[in-house]
Amino acid sequence: MDTKILQITPDVHWIGVLDKDIRTFDIVMETKYGATYNSYFINADKKAVVEVVKEKFFPVFETKLRQLCAPEEIEYIFINHTEPDHSGGLKKLLAIAPKAVVVASNSAIMNLKEQLNAPFQYITTSDGLITDLGNKKITAICAPNLHWPDSIYSYLQEDKVLFTCDSFGAHFCHEEMYNDKVGNYDDAFQYYFDVILKPFSKFFLKAIEKISPLQIETICTGHGPLLRENPLKIVEKTKYLCEDYIKNYPEKNRILIAFVSAYGFTKTIAEKLKEGAEKVPGITVDFCDIEKMDMDTLGDKIAKADAYLLGSPTINQNMLPQLYNVFALMTPLRDRGKLAAAFGDYGWTGDAKQHLISNMDNMKLKRYSESMFVKFIPSKTEEEKIIQFGESFAKTLTTNNLTRGHTPLLTNH
Ligand SMILES: Cc1cc2nc3c(=O)[nH]c(=O)nc-3n(C[C@H](O)[C@H](O)[C@H](O)COP(=O)(O)O)c2cc1C
Ligand SMILES: [Fe+2]
Ligand SMILES: [Fe+2]
Repeated sequence: MDTKILQITPDVHWIGVLDKDIRTFDIVMETKYGATYNSYFINADKKAVVEVVKEKFFPVFETKLRQLCAPEEIEYIFINHTEPDHSGGLKKLLAIAPKAVVVASNSAIMNLKEQLNAPFQYITTSDGLITDLGNKKITAICAPNLHWPDSIYSYLQEDKVLFTCDSFGAHFCHEEMYNDKVGNYDDAFQYYFDVILKPFSKFFLKAIEKISPLQIETICTGHGPLLRENPLKIVEKTKYLCEDYIKNYPEKNRILIAFVSAYGFTKTIAEKLKEGAEKVPGITVDFCDIEKMDMDTLGDKIAKADAYLLGSPTINQNMLPQLYNVFALMTPLRDRGKLAAAFGDYGWTGDAKQHLISNMDNMKLKRYSESMFVKFIPSKTEEEKIIQFGESFAKTLTTNNLTRGHTPLLTNH
């Protein structure tokens, strides 16, 4: 059994676990370098643990913890985020640490009540509140939506250590653990940022602003390397990535035309929509047959677009699976209020229209007043109408952008 403990400062110890073999995380993430679940023991007058680990690794964690203290002595457990990769082992820890009081944000405490399904002692912390460990103090820094509403950071002033859970983390499993010893892991860091944190860039910038006055010698993340060599460089890099994302996503007046087409008629509609849209100055069209497009590419295109024209033929009273993928890759957190219209070709029932529209509404897109559906082969007259439709759609987008100063619309119709 892996029993390695790392002494980060004289009183702060890493007691996390290595998950070398994991290759998919949270269903959505590839973890080709494995993962770590970082947990920390603080040897203060009042002993404390920061973060726990995934439940299945609790025995490894417990073995490490027992090398440093008797669990009955633990007085505080800081939970910075309640996703089970960090909080999963909490129930078992509380069972062996009966004195321990859980310190977490209000929304984290609410989540824990539903996760533990049993009474537990807790303190609801919030921005700037200090938990006194006797000879040391921990300050809470609210950092919501990174990447759940519950997230906070904990700052141990005396040791200049900031615990950030998922923020500044990466799925990268290396026994050496310290960022100056694990080699280059830039791609894992970037991938973790892109998949988990990027959509929350605005919140991340606020959190970075809040931690900027702190003296930080080490950032103790929830996953991957411990940032003791130039931790502020990683904060700066993250700041740059967030600003870059906010600046470029969505790209103003960029329309994603995404469709599939069995016999080419939905494709014809898509082409005519493009022709119409491109008549409007300033419009960029990203024209995509998405039949064989991989999910990463599609996801990026969805994030980058400012408006959507989404098309599917009706097949067996349904739209095609690739269009379901489009909606699966959206999130109202990011895409709410983007202008959208449905199009497609059909033979008799034309049900794809309703499926597209319902999904647009579920994603809280700003649905354009009309859709464009054609029965079998588009005639010349219909083609003209489609071109006009594309043009009107694009004009609506540019006009909306002018009147709303390019902030997302929040209403649907
Ligand atoms: C297997 C199959 C099932 C279909 N089911 C429906 C249907 O349930 N309702 C409908 O309106 N059209 C249905 N159609 C007709 C297509 O929607 C129609 O042929 C349309 O023109 C195809 O457009 P496309 O060329 O963009 O693929 C079906 C076609 C196929 C090949
Ligand atoms: Fe998480
Ligand atoms: Fe996590």
